[in-house]
Amino acid sequence: MTAPRTPRIPYGGDYNPEQWPEDVWDDDHRLFTRAGVDTLTVGVFTWSLTQPAPDTYDFTVLDRVLDRAAAEGRRVCLATGTAALPPWLAERHPEVNRTDFEGRRHRYGQRHNFCPSSPAYRRYARGMARRLAERYAHHPALLAWHINNEYGGACYCDLCAEAFREWLRDRHGTLDALNDAWWTTFWSHRYTDWDQIEPPSALTEHWSGPDHTAFQGITLDWFRFTTDALLGCFLAEKEVIRAHDPDTPVTTNFMGTFRPLDYHRWAPHLDFASWDSYPPLDAPPTRPALAHDLMRGLKDGAPFWLMEQTPSTTACRDVNPLRRPGELRLATFQAIAHGADAALYFQMRASRGACEKYHGAVIGHAGRDDTRVFCEVADLGAELERLGAVTLGARTPARTALVFDWDSWWALEISDGPSRLVKYPDVVHAYYRAARAAGADVDVVPQTADLTPHDVVLAPALYMVKGDLATRLEAVARRGGTVLTTFLSGRVDEHDRALRTDVPGPLAPLMGVRVDEWDARPPEFAQTVPELGAQARLVFDIVLPRGAEPVATYGTDFYAGTPAVTRNRYGAGEGWYVATALDQPGVDQVVRRILAHHDLLGPYADHPSVETATRVAPDGTRLLFLLNHAPEPAHLTAHATATDLLTGKRVDQGEPLVLDPLGVAVLQ
Ligand code: GLA
Ligand code: ZN
Repeated sequence: MTAPRTPRIPYGGDYNPEQWPEDVWDDDHRLFTRAGVDTLTVGVFTWSLTQPAPDTYDFTVLDRVLDRAAAEGRRVCLATGTAALPPWLAERHPEVNRTDFEGRRHRYGQRHNFCPSSPAYRRYARGMARRLAERYAHHPALLAWHINNEYGGACYCDLCAEAFREWLRDRHGTLDALNDAWWTTFWSHRYTDWDQIEPPSALTEHWSGPDHTAFQGITLDWFRFTTDALLGCFLAEKEVIRAHDPDTPVTTNFMGTFRPLDYHRWAPHLDFASWDSYPPLDAPPTRPALAHDLMRGLKDGAPFWLMEQTPSTTACRDVNPLRRPGELRLATFQAIAHGADAALYFQMRASRGACEKYHGAVIGHAGRDDTRVFCEVADLGAELERLGAVTLGARTPARTALVFDWDSWWALEISDGPSRLVKYPDVVHAYYRAARAAGADVDVVPQTADLTPHDVVLAPALYMVKGDLATRLEAVARRGGTVLTTFLSGRVDEHDRALRTDVPGPLAPLMGVRVDEWDARPPEFAQTVPELGAQARLVFDIVLPRGAEPVATYGTDFYAGTPAVTRNRYGAGEGWYVATALDQPGVDQVVRRILAHHDLLGPYADHPSVETATRVAPDGTRLLFLLNHAPEPAHLTAHATATDLLTGKRVDQGEPLVLDPLGVAVLQ
């Protein structure tokens, strides 16, 4: 199953009319119509209304919300509302409250606060999902199911400890296997009974926080267990929805590059992926782009939904800057360019009370339709309406893949040595950014992905190489492709045990290098890499070429003159090894050389502010998105004769093509 079929890009967002008297709803719908809003996500936090007591259900408000939406010709993404507990549930079953990393049993409060292993939570959450499905499966407004909200966090209670042990039994079979996997003879940890195993927390294996563990094996398994425990909650709800509604697509809203949950383990269970984009402050536009491509990669390149973004400002940060005029439009088209088939906001109308009352909304507290934000939202709504269905279902024809792996992320960042300062997403982003700035479309894929469509595979910081990936990477090179990997790759097996081979383990034959030693230095220290005119930091593998030729070398220290970057001929292709954390200009040069070899540099690769992305519609229509991220106009020369779908204007090949500040063109 894929995302819901719609005649245009669904436009709208989270809508909580239950917070307001009904005369306000009249204003809302009038304004929605003006803004071209056709889709509302409802019911995300309604549990204490729909079930005010254990045996009392009350759907009158939700009925009215859905009926009203239908009467207005709008569709609804209906949430099951199980992300925030009603107080009575926590009162009646205190064990539904989470126990935190420090071992403190929480009392009622906040949201995203349920213990995933609590039978009471699962029973009531499933009960709510079932009732909603029974009631609304055939409602004319229903477009999609939205289970829970932004799953995340962990619980360290006794129920979770017991569930963890069950999970471990399943995974390892015997205690001998577990002891071997976790290397428990180290520090006298050999377990002789499953009940001796404790969740890794501040009270057990950890010190100074979740990244410092005495046993990587147990902590890794705990992250996997947490992923699966929350997935179990999702599946419990999905199952009862399916029993009553076989046809409506089901999703839950993810958070992009979110470390705690391995979304690749979830992906097969979603009908379509969706996610909430709140880019970090001052992040380059390739950060949200990477997350979009990661989310698109969850369902094998199928379009995803942008389930939330703010029209103007967030509230949860210490300082919450406004989106400047034009930035919302640019961010929305960026999402569409990367595969979003819906553009939804958090939120449609601002709350009056509680912690999100200053969070940006399409409609502010005064209910006006002449604010700058409302006008920008309405203009964008009209523009998307004009664009119609042309982008829907379109795929990205990328020939470059970037391997993204949660196990590697976890294992690398919980490792003692060589450096705590290496952050997996930063390394991955540097390579992604280089490829995108050079104009290449990139599929961000799991280790298990089919790599046959790709000529270039970037696998930076691939700490844990699993299954037959090494063989498939060799196959890419053998048929003429290029594979790149870096320092901190090919280091450990699936239990985080060092491999009994030379580094980079299973990647060594393809890379033609051997690494016996690595140096790590504080961030102030920069090693020079003269051939690239670049600098390198943090970690420095000392490379012994075993067939590979040096492309660039270290400039100083006892390993001066030894390779920092190598290239190895393999079959008809190549393996590139980057032995250190090059600065961005260094990464750019390496990646551009590889892309140029495969003729994958984009037509506007020399315009640093201009992002390009391609989508090919189901009918074969090829669309090239041009996004100008600079506050000045971008002066380009059209690479082909095309029509800009947003203006209807034709540009001829070789003629000037000017993008406005923060401007967008969609060339067909
Ligand atoms: C998340 C949640 C929303 C809201 C926004 C605020 O994405 O899903 O309920 O809290 O953050 O930015
Ligand atoms: Zn628990």
